[in-house]
Amino acid sequence: PSIDEWTGHGLIERKLQRLLHIEHVKIVPGDSDANDAVKNLLAKEAANEFTERIGDGEIVAVTGGTSVAAIPHYMHSFERAAHLHFIAARGGVGNDIGLQANVIAASFAHACGGTYSTFYYPESLSGEAHEVFKKEPTAQKMIDLYEKTDCVIHGIGDAQRMAEMRNTPSEETEKLQQDGAKGEAFGYYFDENGKIVHRIRTVGIQTEQLKKVPLIIAVAGGKAKADAIAAYMASAPEQTLLVTDEGAALEIIRKL
Ligand code: F6P
Repeated sequence: PSIDEWTGHGLIERKLQRLLHIEHVKIVPGDSDANDAVKNLLAKEAANEFTERIGDGEIVAVTGGTSVAAIPHYMHSFERAAHLHFIAARGGVGNDIGLQANVIAASFAHACGGTYSTFYYPESLSGEAHEVFKKEPTAQKMIDLYEKTDCVIHGIGDAQRMAEMRNTPSEETEKLQQDGAKGEAFGYYFDENGKIVHRIRTVGIQTEQLKKVPLIIAVAGGKAKADAIAAYMASAPEQTLLVTDEGAALEIIRKL
């Protein structure tokens, strides 16, 4: 056993793995809500896990958000990195350009020497427009890549906070609340049992495709995200590796 297994973190990690029914949990010290530097620890840990575990995988889909955006700062070039191709896990366009999945995919590629492709897809299209756009060759190319994705690196957010950040219309926000939405990832909103209660209309990796992805790294910390993380993990694929901090981990254990 590693030193970590003998220390408190090893024990808490195993406890959380059992509670969340996932195969791997990594916990960094501190609480990212209280201390910004902890976000960097999360990012560093995620970068290490990715480098160690990617093996001969090639297609890596990443999401937006501050947690994933910090990871490329800790990535370095490694032997197989030239074979890696980074893509956005979904095509939505957010408000903060620096935190968009497309931009983050490019920073991963720059950091480790891989390649990337960008994919822009308008959000909040009508159902009819979405059906038409989805048939565009650029969208089809992404849908094909999602079928072949080897690794997904994603953030998890609090459902209400994400709805606010996305300027979701008030009826929709109320609906989310009524439906008990707690966590959000990939544009899907989950209730406390992991049931999808809402999804943003866009082209992106589907939950069915996610199940087949061999390496899934979720990066989310901070006590305030405890419910969101637990909600998402209630139906997450069991091969998921959660990189979190003590703040979130202890709060999840206290509540579950
Ligand atoms: O908007 C992209 C996204 O990955 C969401 O799916 C997720 O809820 C959020 O960002 C996490 O953001 P942060 O890491 O900044 O809390």
